[in-house]
Amino acid sequence: MSTNTHSSSVNVVDIIERKGGEPIVSLTAYTTPIARIVDSHCDFVLVVDSVGMVHHGLNSTLGVTMEMMIMHGKAVRRGLKHAMLVVDMPFGSYEESKEQAFRNAATIMRETSCEAIKLEGGIHMAETIEYLTNRGIPVMAHVGLTPQSVNVFGGYNVQGRGEDSKRVLRDAVSVFESGAFSVVLEMVTESIADQITQTVGIPTIGIGASAACDGQILVVDDLLGMFTDFTPKFVKQYARMGLDADKAIKEYAMDVKNRNFPAPEHVFGNKKPSSNKDQK
Ligand code: KIV
Repeated sequence: MSTNTHSSSVNVVDIIERKGGEPIVSLTAYTTPIARIVDSHCDFVLVVDSVGMVHHGLNSTLGVTMEMMIMHGKAVRRGLKHAMLVVDMPFGSYEESKEQAFRNAATIMRETSCEAIKLEGGIHMAETIEYLTNRGIPVMAHVGLTPQSVNVFGGYNVQGRGEDSKRVLRDAVSVFESGAFSVVLEMVTESIADQITQTVGIPTIGIGASAACDGQILVVDDLLGMFTDFTPKFVKQYARMGLDADKAIKEYAMDVKNRNFPAPEHVFGNKKPSSNKDQK
């Protein structure tokens, strides 16, 4: 049985009402400490399946399971008081039928106490989105580049260029008409993002989709600069935590090798000042 019973102060209606207003701020999170940090700054926090690539060393999101999403969803839930929690449905958990989607979405909601789920897809998911929303499950849709279809797209490429813009627009309109309360636009051109944002009556949340959207999302590890090898064009790094961590760990290794760590103040029984009297 789930022990996650609390909810956030922001809800789905608050997000819908932000359409055309102050831009919606959102980030991903996968752990309780990061959720606590992002909570007061974000309107919603998304536990996405990119956790597989970011924290489990997978080379795509396809290997991510329901169990992984639930575990990370529960961890993030414990860190949120303000921001709404949205949890991604992993590959293979919703595409087969609307009944399968309902069963797994309900499990995710019950286990994590998230306020909404996210799933990838446009027109082909319309029936499922309608089925879920009619049964009490708020759905955030995701169109443009949908990473779970990387093998169909043949890579992580910009979507909606030229003639393809009609497909992306159709997908966005279709998820809006099916009842999705918002839609993520991933890696689409500014002109198509702008056109979709002007056309649909729900907030558009961009990732690599320009400031024309009603809100923005980034993978928090990208923003913090956790990776030193590759940064997508659409990411702005606000910190270089990967480099800082490397430097700190190198220093620690040197200290251990030179016997500079632990120093006297880190040793129990020594008189040196300690921050916690009970640990002397
Ligand atoms: O998996 C992902 O990175 C996403 C983005 C919308 C953050 O779904």
